[in-house]
Amino acid sequence: MTASAPRVPAGTLGREDAGKAVLVKGWVHRRRDHGDLVFIDLRDRSGLLQIVFDAEFLPEPGLLARAKELRGEFVLAVTGKVVLRDEAARNAEMPTGEIELRATALEVLNRAETPPFQIEDGVKASEDLRLKYRYLDLRRPEMTSNLVKRSDVTFRIRQVLHEEGFLEVETPILTKSTPEGARDFLVPSRVHPGEFYALPQSPQLFKQLLMVSGVERYYQIARCFRDEDLRADRQPEFTQVDLELSFPDEETVYALIEKIFAAVFPAYGIPCPARFPRMTHAEAMERFGIDRPDTRYGLELRTLDFSSSPSEILRAAETVKGIAVPGGSAFARKRLDDLEAAAKQLGASGLVWVKLQSDLPGGFNSNAKKLLDEATVAAARASLAANDGDLLLVVAGKRATVDDVLGTLRVRLAREEKLIPEGRYDFLWVTDFPLLEWHPEDRRWYAMHHPFTSPRPEDLPLLDTDPGKVHARAYDVVLNGMELGGGSIRIHQPEVQSKVFATLGIGPEEAKAKFGFLLDAFRFGAPPHGGLALGLDRMLMILTKSTSIRDVIAFPKTASGSCLMTESPGPVADAQLVELGIRRAADVVPKTP
Ligand code: AMO
Repeated sequence: MTASAPRVPAGTLGREDAGKAVLVKGWVHRRRDHGDLVFIDLRDRSGLLQIVFDAEFLPEPGLLARAKELRGEFVLAVTGKVVLRDEAARNAEMPTGEIELRATALEVLNRAETPPFQIEDGVKASEDLRLKYRYLDLRRPEMTSNLVKRSDVTFRIRQVLHEEGFLEVETPILTKSTPEGARDFLVPSRVHPGEFYALPQSPQLFKQLLMVSGVERYYQIARCFRDEDLRADRQPEFTQVDLELSFPDEETVYALIEKIFAAVFPAYGIPCPARFPRMTHAEAMERFGIDRPDTRYGLELRTLDFSSSPSEILRAAETVKGIAVPGGSAFARKRLDDLEAAAKQLGASGLVWVKLQSDLPGGFNSNAKKLLDEATVAAARASLAANDGDLLLVVAGKRATVDDVLGTLRVRLAREEKLIPEGRYDFLWVTDFPLLEWHPEDRRWYAMHHPFTSPRPEDLPLLDTDPGKVHARAYDVVLNGMELGGGSIRIHQPEVQSKVFATLGIGPEEAKAKFGFLLDAFRFGAPPHGGLALGLDRMLMILTKSTSIRDVIAFPKTASGSCLMTESPGPVADAQLVELGIRRAADVVPKTP
């Protein structure tokens, strides 16, 4: 019955197809019964098509009755003739809205139970329900479209990298720990009881080894695994566009990433400059309090001079910084209290607010009037280029805390005050990161990026004298305040690598045990090398304007790291634990029948 006409994707038909006999296959999206007329919106991956079962044109009388029995999500094969809709019935919202398919034959390929939620965009169902029935959620056109875009984006990226002479190489999933700063997911080994593989936090070590192998230009669309606390833009299992080159400098990497972005973002209506602006890490921290600044709006942080303020606390603080919120002197007390609570939550001892109001005595009001005098407020106002009616928010304390608090409040206030211009996209390279950061909790240095990042050669002597001042040859690419990727020029000399390990408190024994294979490789002619990894999921979030990273991943995990569909993680049988050497057979209590 249906073999006579070729199957066509339903969503691709248009007025130019009028008069053609076609076969379409897909799911019942919606059904409307008007007696002698039954309308079906048929959905396949390409889109929606209206099908009409019109008693007047049906070749056999039983067809209308069968059309009336169709229900949502039934799978159909329908043959018919493409006809132009009446003028009044055209739907400009729908790509196929000028036509409809006048059915002449119907085959029900499968029936469906009523789905647990309506399969349509703007779905009201809870996200947990959507995740439990993810395969149904993915039928929704906006989710299908995200999958299509993801596939298109990786295709575009592969195309650029292929043209640039990169080899796509797969690296192991069952491997050894790679230090990217998160906890590892471990996999026990049956053959080696009591021993474990780690899932890769990134292919970092393998891509460096591929440079030693002479691959010269490597890339991989690589799955990475990190057991860390989840946020809106983080998943425990995510995808990087991971790449590495031999003999590059920073400029080589910047130009390559700019080329990749130029092949992707404009195709999604996002203008992308040929070269991205650059900002040093130090400037980013000073002006924005964060290493991934969103430069689309002002509200910049300024260091304030409180050296002659009446307050001993403010005078003695390591740093005093502030931001000025335009028009913020109108904020209600409740809102100011909320901001102060947020500041304290982030570790500030307090938040000084100053409302600049010329009609008040002294020209201002503040929650810390006793700590301020007119001269200090006037100086702060000048530093922040603030106007009457603005609100100053001031934090004093350790530099890192002050930056974190004001950097976070800045982003929050920009959102709340709607200061972020629609449709603006600010790409940025953040450069010259410090190599190390000091963690006071365990009183030791940690690598800011990872321990394989090269120090600037001229800073090498500082590793012995003032490690905190050593700059790294590391860079991040940032878009609208989101870190899209990070990388560095690596260490390729064994002596330098050993020295950095030593500064990180990793002794020769530990280094040998953890990364002996890399140190060995460096002894056999490692070329200078470097690279970067892009967060593919985050790129897709921006390209699809999704607010959740889960919307661009086919089968994501919840915020607590579980998969509601497969119910993983889950318990396993005692016997399996015994076999893996995780539990002793003697400890397993036999189940009583
Ligand atoms: P880094 O750790 O900065 O660098 O990771 C690179 C990029 O991966 C993305 N990303 C994530 N995306 C989603 N969920 C996560 N949990 C997550 N963690 C990171 C971010 C980030 O910028 N090996 C180095 C790269 C290199 O040096 O070449 C690395 O992994 O967009």
